[in-house]
Amino acid sequence: MISTVSTKPYADQKPGTSGLRKKVPVFQQENYAENFIQAIFDSLEGFEGQTLVIGGDGRFYNREVIQKALKMAAANGFGKVLVGKGGILSTPAASHVIRKYKAFGGIVLSASHNPGGPTEDFGIKYNISNGGPAPEKITDAIFARTKVIDSYKIADVADIDLDTVGSFDLAGMTVEVIDPVADYADLMETLFDFPAIRSLIAGGFRVVIDSMSAVTGPYAVEILEKRLGAPSGSVRNEVPLPDFGHHHPDPNLVHAKELYDDVMSADGPDFGAASDGDGDRNMVVGKGMFVTPSDSLAMIAANATCAPGYKNGIAGIARSMPTSAAADRVAEKLGIGMYETPTGWKFFGNLMDAGKVTVCGEESFGTGSDHVREKDGLWAVLFWLNIVAARKQSVKQIVEAHWAEYGRNYYSRHDYEGVDTDNANALVAALRAKLDSLPGTEINGLTVSAADDFAYHDPIDHSVSKNQGIRILFEGGSRIVFRLSGTGTSGATLRLYVERYEPDASRHAIETQAALADLIAAAEEVAEIKRYTGMSEPTVIT
Ligand code: G1P
Ligand code: ZN
Repeated sequence: MISTVSTKPYADQKPGTSGLRKKVPVFQQENYAENFIQAIFDSLEGFEGQTLVIGGDGRFYNREVIQKALKMAAANGFGKVLVGKGGILSTPAASHVIRKYKAFGGIVLSASHNPGGPTEDFGIKYNISNGGPAPEKITDAIFARTKVIDSYKIADVADIDLDTVGSFDLAGMTVEVIDPVADYADLMETLFDFPAIRSLIAGGFRVVIDSMSAVTGPYAVEILEKRLGAPSGSVRNEVPLPDFGHHHPDPNLVHAKELYDDVMSADGPDFGAASDGDGDRNMVVGKGMFVTPSDSLAMIAANATCAPGYKNGIAGIARSMPTSAAADRVAEKLGIGMYETPTGWKFFGNLMDAGKVTVCGEESFGTGSDHVREKDGLWAVLFWLNIVAARKQSVKQIVEAHWAEYGRNYYSRHDYEGVDTDNANALVAALRAKLDSLPGTEINGLTVSAADDFAYHDPIDHSVSKNQGIRILFEGGSRIVFRLSGTGTSGATLRLYVERYEPDASRHAIETQAALADLIAAAEEVAEIKRYTGMSEPTVIT
């Protein structure tokens, strides 16, 4: 019943910022997914008889790869697999299920916020027993294995019925098809003050969540409409579709513009939120106030004790390097640790496992805590609702009060997508070459205080990650950061991150791009973005 199938290696199976991501037709090549899954198993030890969690965001090709992974898990000796009904598990829910049922690890099928469909993106990621993305040591081993793999093991059995909750036998391995929502919703109920949020909503506070036809729909309906009593229809685009309804399931001001406009309109809802393809990102918009992800991290940290799950305070905060330093000021005031890591959630796992940090965040619409080991979109939305309910203030009032107390970090990210890879690499190489000579010089009238290519020394496992983004810091605390995306599937994406700290409350209402204009011009001057990319402006500004 178990076959060993011979195969040939593919040269391009290097996991990026968050697992292996490619276009669907790449994954549909003969043995492509099988090779990668076998390479994962070959890079692990001691899983015989153990439990594996499998689930995905429901995008095109999800079901097919789940069937392959189930049969391969059986052939490789796992004792049990927990799989979400319909093949569905949001990324944070998968992380929770791994932790709750003490699984050996999990396979999460997703390409996050990238579009889905027959010619769009797909992805496979391995998570370890703490529920978080595998660290580089493992992803490097997986990549090394993919380069030499010559066979994989698979059980020759019929497909499992993924649409019925229950226990099934697959070649001697148990497959449990589980309700993908219940465990996660129960966890949220332990962290947040559901009665307070319920009365906020019952009192007329109008909340809308746009699930963008992606995985959070069933979760948001269960939590917001069923458990918190919001009227039916409060969750929009709530049915997960394999192609996300042709939308780009990325919750930001470009792709969730309709929601944003609705909340900003005079008779629109009081609070709007959106999540991405696999449910780990979030966007929060209050009436008259969009909350930037960097600010959201700082404000959640500053107000953490409003939520029952965090009533004793937080141990520390971590943020990715390009994320604004707004949270640093909160950590300073609270007298707790602040950690600056490379981009990607996998760098937070060690800090959370060691109890050094409780909340973490990234500028890319990612916020989360040690309740799981992934960022968590709905968690952030519920945290904000809890804060609003506890403080009895609007989002706008909460944000403005925070700025008045701590100062405002104006912040924006400019993405140049689809850049020729050689040109993008040349831009970075040219910047790198001049880093040493920049300190003390002026760029567009701004004096450089320091410039480097960020390297991270993990304080827990002492691993070192180099070349994590070029930072140019200016006198007064402003900075620009350049890095290339590690999640794209075609060409290169250049990301420019721009930040200015403004302590003066009378200067907190400037339009963001205007407040950052001189830094944006400085970035052009030092990096010649237009010349290298051939683009006169960014493709996305967030
Ligand atoms: C992007 C974000 C990063 C996030 C990752 C996965 O990675 O910038 O913060 O962790 O997606 O959601 P990038 O494409 O920049 O490598
Ligand atoms: Zn995501």
